[in-house]
Amino acid sequence: MDAASWDERYRGGELVWKADPNRFVAEELAGLKPSGRAVDLAAGEGRNAVWLAERGWEVDAVDFSAVALEKARTLAAERDVRLHTVQADLTLWEPAEATYGLVLIAYLHLPWPQLAQVLARAADAVRSGGTLLLVGHDAANPEHGYGGPRDPGVLYSAEQVADLWRPYAEILRAGTVTRPVTGTEGDSRTALDALVRAVRR
Ligand SMILES: C[S@@+](CC[C@H](N)C(=O)[O-])C[C@H]1O[C@@H](n2cnc3c(N)ncnc32)[C@H](O)[C@@H]1O
Repeated sequence: MDAASWDERYRGGELVWKADPNRFVAEELAGLKPSGRAVDLAAGEGRNAVWLAERGWEVDAVDFSAVALEKARTLAAERDVRLHTVQADLTLWEPAEATYGLVLIAYLHLPWPQLAQVLARAADAVRSGGTLLLVGHDAANPEHGYGGPRDPGVLYSAEQVADLWRPYAEILRAGTVTRPVTGTEGDSRTALDALVRAVRR
């Protein structure tokens, strides 16, 4: 989907995603002591970025949807935290090297060659000792899980991401995690996500 399609999806007062952080983001990062700047790549309406700011991080929220970032700023104002929003296409975005103590990527799905570039730049943007966290819909989700994109070209496994980050970082965790979701009939379903956490060398 391009920026205009995402803008369309985000338009309207309701949040497309919830205001609370993604469960895996909260589980993985609640115990991480804030250390300066963090960046949330594909931040959307800012649920994770705002949560990080509440915990004491100085957060850059990057997304190519202007509508999403406007909603992220509104959420930040409601929660009384500062958020620095950056409207940019991540396939072109070039962050300064060794800048961040934390890079978060949650549910960004691009064709693998483009995502691989984003992941490599993300690794370069983290300073030594900093954390990289990615959560996304797992490649196995269309067959064995529920919801999320169906196009296998934009899905990935945790191992694929870990292999890419391994030259830059020590991989602390890489695997498939499950998330309870409600199906269209109100039934209980399970989504499969890929989760990778790494610490920059
Ligand atoms: C599924 S949403 C996830 C939002 C947020 N990370 C969250 O977990 O709530 C995916 C986001 O990726 C953004 N996105 C997709 N492709 C992008 C690109 N090439 N550059 C910047 N943002 C992009 C969309 O605008 C959208 O906000």
